[in-house]
Amino acid sequence: MSLQGKHILVGVTGGIAAYKMATVIREFKKKGAEVKVVMTPMAKQFITPLTLATLSQNPILVDFFDPENGAWNSHVSLGIWADAYLIAPATANTIGKMANGIADNLLLTSYLSAKCPVFVAPAMDLDMYAHPAVQKNIETLRSRGNHIIDAEEGFLASGLTGKGRMAEPSTIVDSMELYFASVNDLKGEKVLITAGPTYEKIDPVRFIGNYSSGKMGYALAEECASRGADVILVSGPVSLNPVHPNIKKISVESAGEMFDAAVENSSDADVEILCAAVADYTPAQRADRKIKREKTGEMSIDLIPTKDIAAHLGKIKKEGQLMVGFALETDNEEVNAVDKCARKNLDFIVLNSLNNKNTCFQSDTNMITIFDKDGSRYPYEFKPKREVAKDIVDHIVEKLS
Ligand code: C5P
Repeated sequence: MSLQGKHILVGVTGGIAAYKMATVIREFKKKGAEVKVVMTPMAKQFITPLTLATLSQNPILVDFFDPENGAWNSHVSLGIWADAYLIAPATANTIGKMANGIADNLLLTSYLSAKCPVFVAPAMDLDMYAHPAVQKNIETLRSRGNHIIDAEEGFLASGLTGKGRMAEPSTIVDSMELYFASVNDLKGEKVLITAGPTYEKIDPVRFIGNYSSGKMGYALAEECASRGADVILVSGPVSLNPVHPNIKKISVESAGEMFDAAVENSSDADVEILCAAVADYTPAQRADRKIKREKTGEMSIDLIPTKDIAAHLGKIKKEGQLMVGFALETDNEEVNAVDKCARKNLDFIVLNSLNNKNTCFQSDTNMITIFDKDGSRYPYEFKPKREVAKDIVDHIVEKLS
């Protein structure tokens, strides 16, 4: 493994573990990376800019501009330059600001501008680390796709022993190397993903929808893009937005709109992942005005079937295209999933179970079983949707090769 030619931006904050960053930067350089370092003002108290400038072979950046000559240190161009941004050690203060979008130094403005993967190595005393506020902030960063390099247990600068030590320099370097080695196995592939719910309008203020949050589909989009794919994400109404620059989002509302956008983008897709919870029926008529309550009697809405996107794409599937569907069943889960896989001409289907707690709709976690079209069955453990996305994409890469 190597880091040859990679641009690594290193953000150092004011914690005692900053002294270990000399070793990390030295290793990055040895492995062929180009390194630039941003420090918070406090970090300069823990390790000198001269040390890190010498090792990185670049001047250290701390301020937004150079007071001597007014030269502007552009956080935007740093964000564009970097292939990865490592923030280590990341103090509770910086983690809290990152989680809340606070931008009062160059390290933080660079974080908010960065389009590249971000790695965060927390380091603090055990009680600070265990505090629910800090844990919540770390989870927020994780849920937004930042790679957390977990703190380790052991001897702390305070003299206490517990969890909070920054990961060892070798662990930090290894995780970045692993990351760069694993990416790009979808390079050049075009991936079409449908995600989220659909809303079927009844009148201008009401609709028929479902509980889908889009989290699984968005996690798949981020995973595919981070592995080199060009992703088109056809998304129903959700409160999420894609982060990776290689994801093009097309927002739709109804099943009909999702059908049109998916079909339009299907012909040059190498992989199609149909993850959306698409309405099976839509009102036969859409009222132009808000339907008023009648004084007496019942009211009913006539529904007509929507077009099945997966089934249609399965029909027009080209040689070499790989199609993945999802199944959510309340009964006879496995039989229904395998049947759906065949009916829609899918290569494999991902079964989510409503029988498990904290899976499926709205949840950040999921537990899946994959069924190939030949009936092979692959059960997975309960885990965060981000990791589930990795499992699914690993399965896709295996099928493509
Ligand atoms: O709704 P159903 O259980 O048939 O969904 C199974 C698969 O079909 C999912 O992958 C879903 O995204 C897809 N589907 C679709 N268009 C529909 C209904 C379902 O693409 N109208």
